[in-house]
Amino acid sequence: MKIAPSILSADFARLGEEVKMVEDAGVDYIHIDVMDGNFVPNISFGQVVVSALRPVTKLPLDVHLMIADPENYINDFVKAGADIIMAHVEATPHIHRVVQMIKAAGVKPGVVLNPGTPVEAIKYVLADVDQVLVMTVNPGFGGQSFIESTVEKIAELDQLRKEQGYHYEIEVDGGIQPETAKKCAEAGADVFVAGSYIYGADKPEEQIAALRAALN
Ligand code: DX5
Ligand code: ZN
Repeated sequence: MKIAPSILSADFARLGEEVKMVEDAGVDYIHIDVMDGNFVPNISFGQVVVSALRPVTKLPLDVHLMIADPENYINDFVKAGADIIMAHVEATPHIHRVVQMIKAAGVKPGVVLNPGTPVEAIKYVLADVDQVLVMTVNPGFGGQSFIESTVEKIAELDQLRKEQGYHYEIEVDGGIQPETAKKCAEAGADVFVAGSYIYGADKPEEQIAALRAALN
């Protein structure tokens, strides 16, 4: 079970320290939410933040692109030092091309599903991806409530993985805290993104430990 804090809820004025703190607390990935104000109704930050964080941590940088036409920006995020790049299937007519571009650059490709998007939409790229990110809230903001109907989608992806011998990790993102993480884990999720649950607390290392305990 992997924990991936989302820096969207971190203190941007002290971003390097915020990343080191969760690394010291034993997390597995740093989740980086890129939003363009077009695909999602909010703007966060771009590739300069990825390159600024690259020398700060040894952890894999798990980049979640919430941007329209991600194919136009893959090379920028590769150069910035991303280890995993995930694109939304709803954000491009060319998800297959995007996955191949990421792979060809030597970075792990991932594909993302909004809560309203069925697994069927990514059927023909599942064999090629290292990660499937199931959005458990509608993307755009931290601190929203977990959408229960997404649990069934996690189970469907887990079953497909077993039946077809696919190698992807199932990642969940949005409204994750110990109780919702446990439900997702039982359905087959492997990677747990948490933003406000970790960074919104006084003692993030205690939140990480509580999340870890719920997953064991
Ligand atoms: C939402 C982002 C999430 C967000 C999660 O669009 O993709 O990664 O930071 O925030 P919480 O954990 O607060 O729901
Ligand atoms: Zn995210």
